[in-house]
Parts: sequence; C-alpha cells; structure tokens
Amino acid sequence: MSAPVAASVELGDIQGIVRFGYKRHTQAAFLLLRVRDRDAARAWLASAPVSSAATIEPPPDTAMQVALSSPGLVALGVADDIVQGFSSEFVSGLGNDASRARRLGDVGTNAPLHWQWGSGERVPHVLLMLYAVPGRLAAFQREVLAACAAGFELMANLPSTDMHGIEPFGFVDGISQPQLDWQRQRPARDAEQTTYTNLGCLGEYLLGYPNEYGGYTDRPVLDPQRDAQAALLPRAEDAPDQADLGRNGSYLVMRQLRQDVHGFWQHLDRQAGGDPALREHLAAALVGRTRKGEPLVHYGAAAPLVHNGSAAMAAGGAVVDLNDFDYAGDPRGLRCPLGAHVRRANPRNADLPPGEPGLWSWLKRTLGFDADALAHDRIASTRFHRLLRRGREYGAPVMLSQALEAAPAAAEVGLHFICLGANIARQFEFVQSAWMAGLHFDRLSGESDPLLGTREPTPEGRPTNEFSMPQADGPDQCLAGLPQFVTVTGGAYFFLPGICALRYLATAPPKE
Ligand code: HEM
Repeated sequence: MSAPVAASVELGDIQGIVRFGYKRHTQAAFLLLRVRDRDAARAWLASAPVSSAATIEPPPDTAMQVALSSPGLVALGVADDIVQGFSSEFVSGLGNDASRARRLGDVGTNAPLHWQWGSGERVPHVLLMLYAVPGRLAAFQREVLAACAAGFELMANLPSTDMHGIEPFGFVDGISQPQLDWQRQRPARDAEQTTYTNLGCLGEYLLGYPNEYGGYTDRPVLDPQRDAQAALLPRAEDAPDQADLGRNGSYLVMRQLRQDVHGFWQHLDRQAGGDPALREHLAAALVGRTRKGEPLVHYGAAAPLVHNGSAAMAAGGAVVDLNDFDYAGDPRGLRCPLGAHVRRANPRNADLPPGEPGLWSWLKRTLGFDADALAHDRIASTRFHRLLRRGREYGAPVMLSQALEAAPAAAEVGLHFICLGANIARQFEFVQSAWMAGLHFDRLSGESDPLLGTREPTPEGRPTNEFSMPQADGPDQCLAGLPQFVTVTGGAYFFLPGICALRYLATAPPKE
C-alpha cells in the first residue's frame, strides 16, 4: 500500500518514476533522441503520454517518462534566461567539461572521449524512459518511435535486461532507498536530528519544496505574464508572485556503467586462493553486503534470509528490514570495511556526529569545539547527499560459474545507473567525487571505491588499487592490485520536468 500524501503535493504533475520504481514493469528501454524538426518535436512533447505519480494501481501495461538535457532545451527553442535559470552543472552537462570529468573520476578508460554517447556531438536532447509489463515493450516502443519520428531522430536505443533485482556482479540491488516525506511532516532544517534517519524532505528530490536545509533549491521561476495565456505553471511556494517552472521536477543523472564480471570474480578467486567461502567473504567486504543483500553490521536478524525488496523473511518467519542499520556499532570498520561500496555511498551518519541531546551539545558540535565531530566531519552530513536510484541492468547475465571461466569476446553487461535529486552538485556529484572517486574517505587514504575506482595512480605516482579491511588485533588486511571493474561508457544530466512544466516548455513561444 502506498504511503499517505499531503494535499499540497501535486501527484498528478510529478512524473511517476519519482514515486514508483516501476518494479513490476520488468521491461524497460531508454531512448536517446535528438531534435530533427523543432516544431514537430515541440508538438509531440506538448501532448506526449507521460505517466504521473498519481497511482500505480492497477499497474498500467506501459509507462513513459520524459527528461530533457540542456542542449535539448536549447534545441527546442527555450529562452536563454530560462535555460540559465537551471543549475550550472545541468547547464554545462556531464560529458563536455574536463574539470568535471577529473573530479568525477571520468579519466583514463572512463574519459568522455571514449564514451558511446554523452560527449561532443553525442549528447542526447531528450531521454524517453519506457517501462512495460512483460511482453508489452516491443510494441510500445514501436508506437512511441512512430509518434515522435517527425520531430526526433533516434540517437541510441539502450535496452535493459530483467535480472530479477540482482546486478551483474551477482548482488541484490535496490534495497536501500531514501524514504521521501510525501506527507511533508518532517520539520525542515531539523538541527536536533543527530541520528541517522532514512526519511528525507521532499525538496531533496523534487524542486519547489523545502529541502534538508529548510530552503528551496534554486530553479527557474518566471514572471507569470510569460505563462499568462495557458496558465500552466503552479505558483512558487516561496515566491507566490512567480510561476515555478521547477516545481514537481527533478534532475536525473544517467551513466552507462560496463561491468567486468569475469574480472571481478576471477580477481577475488585468485586472492582467495580458490577457496569459495573466502572468495564470497571478500566479495561481500567490497560491496558491504552479502550477495543476498544482508548488511555486514548488525541489523536485528541472525537467521538466513529470503529476500523481497528491502524487507526479508527470516527463517523463523519474522519479517526483517535489510535497510534498518547504521555503522554506529562498527566505527572502525571491523565488520563492514570503512571503504565498502555501500558504506562510502551512504555512511549513514546523522547531520552531526552523535552527542547528548540539548542546545549546548548541539552548539558545541556545530561550532566545531567537539574533537570527535571534527574527526568525523568528512562523513558527517549524510542526509544532504542521498540519491534516489532508479537504474536498470543491461546485457546478458553471467553466472558465477561462467564468470570464473574465460570471458567471451564482445559480451557486454552492466548497469544503466540512474539517480534523481534536486541538486546534482550536492547529491550525485558529491557522492561520486568525494566518496566514490575520492582517495580520502573516513580514515582511509590512497584508495577509492572498490567497485567503481579507476585505480589510476596519483599525480605523484602512488598506486590507488588497494582495499583495506580493518582487523581487531593488528594492522589492516589489504587486498592489493585491484583491477578496474567498472567502466563508464556514456552519460548525461537531464531535467525531469513536472508534467505542466513539460507542456509549458513545449508550447511557450520559441526563441527565434
Ligand atoms: C556498476 C556499478 C555499481 C554497482 C555494481 C553497484 C552495486 C550496488 C549494490 C550491490 C548495492 C547494495 C544494494 C542496496 O543497498 O540497495 C549498492 C548500493 C548503493 N549504491 Fe551502488 N553500485 C554501482 C554504482 C553506483 C554509483 C555510480 C553510485 C553513486 C554515485 C552508487 C550509489 C549507491 C548507493 C547510494 C547505494 C545505497 C547505499 C545505502 O544506502 O546503504 N552505486 N550498489
């Protein structure tokens, strides 16, 4: 059953992907389009059948979502001042900025220069996300392509594969997601929130609502005169005399990530000396969960689990939540290594390190008089860096037994990583650059994310291909010589507009 939603949230205007993962729509394809005829493209977008977040019951056979890149807005004739009203990282884009590429770890074989799409002239204008229940995708895709053909050319069709919730390395994925405060009950800017909570303000994921700082993320707001004829846009909550083009929209980051499944398991097998149990242990340490999705730190269930979303059935029949844990009981990383993928991706600390309740304690920690607070500063603000993940796998799944044998030539498998957030810089870019690609994390130095790292040596020539596993009774155990397991082969930043905003963009007088 869906969680209750506050009356002030316009579900019918929000694209469905924000609220639903479309998990029952096991078939999906991502169509990357470029405008070929501006007026025809606008005409199609003005009435394209976009699915809203209003309901998923009963599940429709098909659903479509539309997102636009910043070159896409320009190609559609959107006025310059409106384009410039979006965030600067969206405007400059993912794949055409050397400094951004360096910060995000898009270097070496990850460099945009090698991408199949998303850099140079290969930046899509529009992303169409198509979802379907089994057996319905092919016809739906044909229908959509025929309907938009006058306005758009198909730059690439990125199919996906239903791997039943298991990503290509073999781990259950999509367990941990932030919970959106659809009821708008969470007090924004909650200074006393010192313990980890999974509930996040709507404004972290949707523009036009208060975010975790209690403010409204910058977005294009317009003189209502510019929308006077059709009056499509809602008024801004924080500036009621302005029309809010961002309201109910989000930013969408898409990255095509090729996974070397053979390289992953063969490397771990060598490190484990061929011992299957040790190989499994090392793999879980890199990810921070077992392949079945069990966290490596205590989460309240000891029995073997049958997985179902983030809830799981313990052998005794009790339902446990595989997402109900934090790392407070494992500060040294003895159970879950500090640098494990899920620990880097979401260190699960509160806004501030734990302390006594009350104003004095809060002031002490906020003003930096608390030595522990300073020591933890690098990972102290988890709630400002959450990502709503909506990715899908692609390619042919590889069984573990196959992965341990030679790789067939030309087979490609991986993840279409997709995440949503109201602030690309503070959410995706921060997580990717500081926590994933960054060589300093918690007390670790000289190593990056074990799944995503490029292993490029530092400018001083120091290797970055190690993975530390802290031990209770001695120095860290270290996995050395990790190869690169994941390669970026494409990507772009998009704006996922509210449905009224999409209609506005498609119908407002175009720039001549
Ligand atoms: C091919 C690349 C990737 C693989 C194989 C992968 C795999 C996984 C797996 C197995 C999980 C655990 C399941 C879960 O907690 O839902 C996970 C969690 C997560 N990943 Fe990734 N991931 C990849 C790329 C990325 C990227 C690029 C980012 C962000 C920049 C990212 C961010 C996250 C986050 C935020 C979580 C949830 C952590 C938590 O809340 O505990 N992942 N990933």
